[in-house]
Amino acid sequence: MAPDHTAVAHPNIALVKYWGKRDEKLVIPNVDSLSMTLDVFPTVTTVRVTPGEPTDTVTFDGATAEGEQRLRITEFLDLVRKTAGRPERATVDTRNAVPTGAGLASSASGFAALAVAAAAAYGLDLDPTALSRLARRGSASAARSIFGDFAILYARRGDAADADLNSYAEPVPVPDFDPALVIAVVNAGPKAVSSRTAMRRTVETSPLYWPWARAGTTDLADMRAALNRGDLDAVGEIAERNAFGMHATMLAARPAVRYLSPATVAVLDGVLRLRADGVPAYATMDAGPNVKVLCHPADAARVAATMGEAAPGCTVVIARRGPGAALRSG
Ligand code: DP6
Repeated sequence: MAPDHTAVAHPNIALVKYWGKRDEKLVIPNVDSLSMTLDVFPTVTTVRVTPGEPTDTVTFDGATAEGEQRLRITEFLDLVRKTAGRPERATVDTRNAVPTGAGLASSASGFAALAVAAAAAYGLDLDPTALSRLARRGSASAARSIFGDFAILYARRGDAADADLNSYAEPVPVPDFDPALVIAVVNAGPKAVSSRTAMRRTVETSPLYWPWARAGTTDLADMRAALNRGDLDAVGEIAERNAFGMHATMLAARPAVRYLSPATVAVLDGVLRLRADGVPAYATMDAGPNVKVLCHPADAARVAATMGEAAPGCTVVIARRGPGAALRSG
């Protein structure tokens, strides 16, 4: 029997967001994005090549995967098989510590772990840059979870004829900045509109999309400088304006895409109260109602308490910088 290859990856939260693709088949973003990989909510994925089996077997949190979920994984395995020149099917067992599809970046940790485990199982010897390209094909944000701490995903860097080669992630060294990111899970259920559908609709119909995308160039340059200075207030302000701008593009789509719920807004009001009380705290939201708040580690417990009071019943988790995707030995 072929050996098991198990990889662990963590979600990342973008401080300068990716939203919208210029190539849907190759999963190439329109804009560069920059994120922090977390130390919570890991995905653990095991891949084993199964010679002689007619189909892939995919298990998700202990249950057989079906429909769209299964298709995304088998199509990803097809890409790995094509690259490796090996036709065998595989078994994939994936376990998420985070609710799937709730805007908590499970596709990022999921496809980062799958890329690392599947590449190993099929004998592909890929460096981290190549692994980030591979993970991107599953979900663009997954490219950034190949790396720990802070990472950038380039939409287009270089002029290779093969567009796939020009979009990859790389680490952003940030020696003196170690913030907390407090996550309020206000609704762990799957989202109403998938990010894939929502971003397509936004690019096609929102008059605010390209102005936001263009502003992202400034946001990214400002963000790099703020990270280098270890300036939490500047990092937070840039992350907040970039995230609110992204949600504005969605609200202006036709029909509108609205991920923010009353509980989201209640938590955002809590963030404003913290700031009024002199606690530096800044919010970001992705394709779901959950809120992530950047703050100094010393303020994290107070921030968490405020978020919990603002949205009673929500789960609050304090995250820090986390590791890149890696094979688990043994
Ligand atoms: C709002 O990476 O989940 O979290 O590439 O279609 O799989 P696909 O989308 P995905 O989108 C993430 C969008 C975001 C912002 C970000 O992480 O940069």
